[in-house]
Amino acid sequence: MADRTTPQDQLGAAVLAALGRVLDPEIRRPVTELDMIRGVDVQPGGSVRVDLQLTIVGCPAADTIERDVRSAAGSVPGVATVDVDVSVMDPAVRRALTERLREGRPQGVQFTPDSLTRVIAVTSGKGGVGKSTVTANLAAALARRGQRVGIVDVDVHGFSIPGLMGLTDEHGVAPRPTRVDSMILPPVAHEVKVVSIGMFVDDVSTAVSWRGPMLHRTVNQFLSDVWFGALDVLLLDMPPGTGDVAISVGQLLPHAEVLVVTTPQAAAADVAERSGIVARQTGQKVVGVVENMAGLVQPDGSVLHLFGEGGGDETARRLSRGQDAPVPVLGRVPLSVPLRAGGDAGLPVVLGDPSDPAAVALDAVADRLTAMGRGLAGRKLGLSLS
Ligand SMILES: Nc1ncnc2c1ncn2[C@@H]1O[C@H](COP(=O)(O)OP(=O)(O)O)[C@@H](O)[C@H]1O
Ligand SMILES: [Mg+2]
Repeated sequence: MADRTTPQDQLGAAVLAALGRVLDPEIRRPVTELDMIRGVDVQPGGSVRVDLQLTIVGCPAADTIERDVRSAAGSVPGVATVDVDVSVMDPAVRRALTERLREGRPQGVQFTPDSLTRVIAVTSGKGGVGKSTVTANLAAALARRGQRVGIVDVDVHGFSIPGLMGLTDEHGVAPRPTRVDSMILPPVAHEVKVVSIGMFVDDVSTAVSWRGPMLHRTVNQFLSDVWFGALDVLLLDMPPGTGDVAISVGQLLPHAEVLVVTTPQAAAADVAERSGIVARQTGQKVVGVVENMAGLVQPDGSVLHLFGEGGGDETARRLSRGQDAPVPVLGRVPLSVPLRAGGDAGLPVVLGDPSDPAAVALDAVADRLTAMGRGLAGRKLGLSLS
């Protein structure tokens, strides 16, 4: 075979192989698999023309894709010049692509109990306890371990995941996700696919006025129309407490595991317990408790318990009542300036300052969750009792 191909054919094949390593930044698959390379033309002397077709007009990733295609083709030995012709897919090609990405799955909630994705809803009794910080750090920690991770931020009144993951611009505005027909592509940050209510509202006051049915539709849409592809873990940043969103998530994802975040304050155990109990009423399993804002280590080595002690243990103890297996405290995350600063800078502390004690504690939570696996314990089986 090889002896019958011309040097141009061989160079064309080498260029195509190099393009096979260029990933679409949002879909995270090689452009060659996404029907985005319509052709590669090689002229004697090594001038190469690549016919690149983007999924939609005004694709925000267009510049990145074009640059990556140009540099991949240009890096092939024997290539002298590279021209990239950019066009936009026909609707029929695009439809075929979105159908292929859906892998024949009918439109609807992707994370059904029989899917292989582990769903973990991070909840708390009240706001400001570090729920979003824990969510962002666990996601980044799990992604760094090679797991395919997504975050759905459904904290309608306090969405902060885009900022914590470094997705906001200098005005604090989150990017609007790219849409390919009815498919919404979540932006990727620190190898985590992220979708947030904050990406769909123009200002916070709009979000505040949302009511139950609209929230339910939005949560449903996030779980249906946002294309995550195959994920190992989906983390949900829940609003604090037991409101409409918690109920919607409970109905849509009854097999989700719930991670309760609380502070060391004993009084916090009361409200934290309530959010766990409501989750359980919809069939969700409480996987564990994370105590955040635990003692601050002083320069002299002593520990200042700014928020008291015992809230994590007390919450776990209460949530264990009447259960077959006790609910564990999966970690105690100390108060930490690097953790707070990492959040403000959009670089989770587990990535930016992994030796910080808070990062070590969060990494340990990620390890424990991974080791626990997706147990069936406490899960409602899909059996009908009639
Ligand atoms: N362990 C911690 N040490 C220091 N600051 C923290 C810690 N955990 C959270 N914070 C800070 O507390 C604030 C609230 O955290 P956040 O994750 O937004 O809480 P929630 O999502 O529960 O409302 C943020 O400014 C965050 O940076
Ligand atoms: Mg939050």
